[in-house]
Amino acid sequence: MQEVSTGSLPGWHRVEELVRKAHARNLAHDEGVVASYIPVLAHADPERFGLCVAEADGPVHAVGDSDLEFSVQSISKAFVFALVCQAWGREVVSDRVGVNNTGLAFNSVMALELNDGHPMNPMVNAGALATTALMPGESFAEQWENLRSGLSRFAGRQLELDGEVFRSESATNTRNKAIARLLQSYGHLELDPLGVVDVYTRQCALRVSARDLAVMGATLADGGVNPVTGDQVVSGQVCQDTLAVLASTGMYERSGRWLFEIGLPAKSGVSGGIVAIAPGKGAIGTYSARLDRAGNSVRGQRATAHLSRALGLNVF
Ligand code: DON
Repeated sequence: MQEVSTGSLPGWHRVEELVRKAHARNLAHDEGVVASYIPVLAHADPERFGLCVAEADGPVHAVGDSDLEFSVQSISKAFVFALVCQAWGREVVSDRVGVNNTGLAFNSVMALELNDGHPMNPMVNAGALATTALMPGESFAEQWENLRSGLSRFAGRQLELDGEVFRSESATNTRNKAIARLLQSYGHLELDPLGVVDVYTRQCALRVSARDLAVMGATLADGGVNPVTGDQVVSGQVCQDTLAVLASTGMYERSGRWLFEIGLPAKSGVSGGIVAIAPGKGAIGTYSARLDRAGNSVRGQRATAHLSRALGLNVF
């Protein structure tokens, strides 16, 4: 039976106990397959499982492999979108990138073709490339530095590039290069497409942990203020806009089902991370490499569902 949300989380001990329970209950669950289309991701240990809740007013509850680092992959899209909205404003970004669901896979070329080359939304690869191209900076190197320092402020620590993941994806990302070229052909990418893909591939290869994801998400839950460092990373308006986009598109084609079952804006990545945000309350960060067919971590979804119910987080 779901507890009714009262506007804040239960006390520290209760949250700690529920996070431990959500981890223990799902530890032995072994459905799903580790991603391998980026070759190095196939080496991930499928047994590792991290679960962390960061509260919007500071406390952090980390269980299991919460400090194990993995590449952030698509979860970066949410935070780069927030940085770009902060820099240029919501109108520019919604006009240039879009905020609607494509209803198609994250790496779909057809979605672009069906929409006159308009990327539709920032959480699929086409829209994410268009968003990354809007990062402030005079050169790709400067854009990359701004992007890395922005995501680091969300995490409250300096995030590092995983060189092995970056090289592995750079050697195999022909489809993203094709998508960037296609965007250019429709006049939706002003910068050199391969340079944009390079910055995007770096952003996906930043190393984070489940703890980082929870703190990054809690920053969006907390009106843009990192609850651990006190740093105002983006405005409250940007958080509202980012969470709206995540609610409709953060879990790809499963976004509707996710919202129906779990009721929280969230973002997943192919390396096995998920961040789910409870506005005003905090965020859940999970890591487990086995994915379902849409590319979402199986244990991560189960543990998040468990906590959303137990903590009364469903926003509806
Ligand atoms: O561009 C890609 O394909 C990867 N760097 C990221 C994809 C991803 O995480 C999609 N997630 N479900």
